[in-house]
Amino acid sequence: MRIIKFALTLMAVAVGSVAMAQTANVDERVEELLSKMTLEEKIGQMNQLSGGYQFTDMIREGKVGSILNIVDPVEINAVQRVAVEESRLGIPLLVSRDVIHGFRTIFPIPIGMAATFDPAIVEQGARVSAIEATASGVRWTFSPMLDIARDPRWGRVAEGSGEDPYLDVQMGVAMVKGYQGEDFTDPTSMAACIKHFVGYGAAEGGRDYNTTMISERALRNTYFPAFKACVDAGALTLMTSFNDVDGIPSTGNDWLLQDILREEWGFDGMVVTDWNSSGEMIAHGFAEDLKDATAISINAGVDMDMMSWGYIQYVKQLVEEGRISMETIDNAVRNILRLKFRLGLFENPYVDETLARKVAYAPEHLAAAKQCAVESIILIQNNNNVLPLKGVETILVTGPMADAPYDQLGTWAFDGEEQHTVTPLTALRKDYNVIYEPVLAYSRDDNTANIKAAKKAAKKADAIVVCVGEEAILSGEAHSLSNLNLQGAQSELIAAMKATGKPVVVVVIAGRPLTIERDLAECDAMLYAFHPGTMGGEAIADLITGREVPSGKLPMTFLRDAGQAPFYYNHPMTGRPNNGTETLLNDIPLKAGQTSLGCTSYYLDTGYGPLFPFGYGLSYTTFEYSNITLDKSVLNKSDYIHIDFDLTNTGDYEATEVVQIYVRDLVGSVVRPVKELKGFMRVTLKPGETKHLMYDLPVSDLAFWNRDMEYVVEPGEFQLWVAGDSASGEAITFEVR
Ligand code: NOJ
Repeated sequence: MRIIKFALTLMAVAVGSVAMAQTANVDERVEELLSKMTLEEKIGQMNQLSGGYQFTDMIREGKVGSILNIVDPVEINAVQRVAVEESRLGIPLLVSRDVIHGFRTIFPIPIGMAATFDPAIVEQGARVSAIEATASGVRWTFSPMLDIARDPRWGRVAEGSGEDPYLDVQMGVAMVKGYQGEDFTDPTSMAACIKHFVGYGAAEGGRDYNTTMISERALRNTYFPAFKACVDAGALTLMTSFNDVDGIPSTGNDWLLQDILREEWGFDGMVVTDWNSSGEMIAHGFAEDLKDATAISINAGVDMDMMSWGYIQYVKQLVEEGRISMETIDNAVRNILRLKFRLGLFENPYVDETLARKVAYAPEHLAAAKQCAVESIILIQNNNNVLPLKGVETILVTGPMADAPYDQLGTWAFDGEEQHTVTPLTALRKDYNVIYEPVLAYSRDDNTANIKAAKKAAKKADAIVVCVGEEAILSGEAHSLSNLNLQGAQSELIAAMKATGKPVVVVVIAGRPLTIERDLAECDAMLYAFHPGTMGGEAIADLITGREVPSGKLPMTFLRDAGQAPFYYNHPMTGRPNNGTETLLNDIPLKAGQTSLGCTSYYLDTGYGPLFPFGYGLSYTTFEYSNITLDKSVLNKSDYIHIDFDLTNTGDYEATEVVQIYVRDLVGSVVRPVKELKGFMRVTLKPGETKHLMYDLPVSDLAFWNRDMEYVVEPGEFQLWVAGDSASGEAITFEVR
């Protein structure tokens, strides 16, 4: 038997596996294999188990289709050998892992990648992840996470691209392309899994796993676009989400999984549950027991079960009882086998066991990770141009994140190794005479005893770099927070350093937008690094010294207080928009008359605006936008809006600006967002240089799901901004007929 299978494998290679796996031939092979399978073997393909369980016998019996969470190539080959050489049909396993911002070489967490506004570097990052992970035998990653997140209390904002659907589309598609490469059968191609379908980021109050209430229109206008775009870009798999949307858990939602995903979007990939999200429908009170949950999820259109164990236990019985049809099972198995054929797993089931260590941390991988980290870091404040540091020889480096190699990698960097991390402390030592006084051992540490030592050391320093933020474990899945101030005594440390009178540069290294207003008042400059990964320290040192100039922009609104959440720039227009006359708490006279007149939608304590708007980020230089014009002021629906403008670098450093294009649809059949990002471009200019730039925005990109739930461009007046963030610039008006 073994010999025959081996011979068949060789034959397949000989006739050209690439061609075979990529053509319609795949479907023929799927049908041929399906016709040989017993019901038990079909159910086995639908079952995914995690490393740590005893599954070798089950694999041999054809009861496992996919494994997650094993990454040792020797172990992967061993289980694969059981599947390919010892199971009746020899169907290879698909090995999966959460490779969400790097495998060994860790890139900035996804929210940091989004801050680059650079899909090319993000695609490159995903490619590096794929090269390193597939070298271990992992051919399927549970990434990208496309959940729109507008509440920084939710720990998983770390894993997504933030609050904006357009940026989400660009980053999601870049990741899908990077992971999957050009040719799925290439052994370095790793199937992407777009997740979590859908609305998971809208969890009430930012509490992970919580309920969501999202209208169909909001789903279509805001939460679907990145999923649809990634389906169009060829994403091979999709994961359902833990949450319910309007009462229906996603894992049991046939409208989402069939009507939208399969019928409207034509998805022919594979759908997997999230970890036990089928079983969790029992706790939701949506299924009676695991058997019921299993029937609900399969009938809703979920092909593979991750770790509820319900499929393997109950599907046979459910088929026999007529609660699940054979056709439904066959379709699910088709989706799974199609994926395995597409990835060329039948031709290439094994991995070269020496490869993983050879490709990990390749110089070009580290270079890409560093470039991504540099581009991801946002300059929040730079009073008196204290950055880049000038004429500085000795610096005091302090704070719990200055030398935190593990925490700097960020959430879900399961396979990153802290011994490869370059911390700010290590990197800054190459440039300066460094005095190091950590003061706080970790971000939650509130022991201020050592502040004294740091104050004393500050006397010998020309400047102070305070690295604060969040340990990796304070963000990510299941790590929501209601208070977003710096933890422990970090703010006290910053204030104490300011009191020394030395220039203070704060570097925040965190998993989410924190509320940093009080800390800004206590420092001269602030760089914000969403956990920047393996090369984060070098990137930070390059920015502090001025070898690099910051270009990162905020992918999420920064709040003054967590009580403002959820808060996002592209919110629907209210009937009482900001009229610029906010009355704050202390402006209200005693016994003021009871009235709501003249009041707009804001908080009496924090006012109308956020701390920093979406798209915000400073540079060491300044940019000026001028001569912004459209070639036509009246356009047809099939036209392009041709935008011309000049961008001038008015400062002293060569630098990159992220030019952002926003549009507002003034009157709609439903209330429209106050602004929507419709395009961006990174432009590099020398000091004093002006570039004439152009951007063609298709009028069709102004379409939205209107009152009749049709995707249309509604005629009327629009405004357009070309600016460096979502709150700047002058509007230009145009009309669509
Ligand atoms: C649960 C998470 O929600 C999901 O994102 C992840 O891919 C799975 N666990 C597998 O680890």
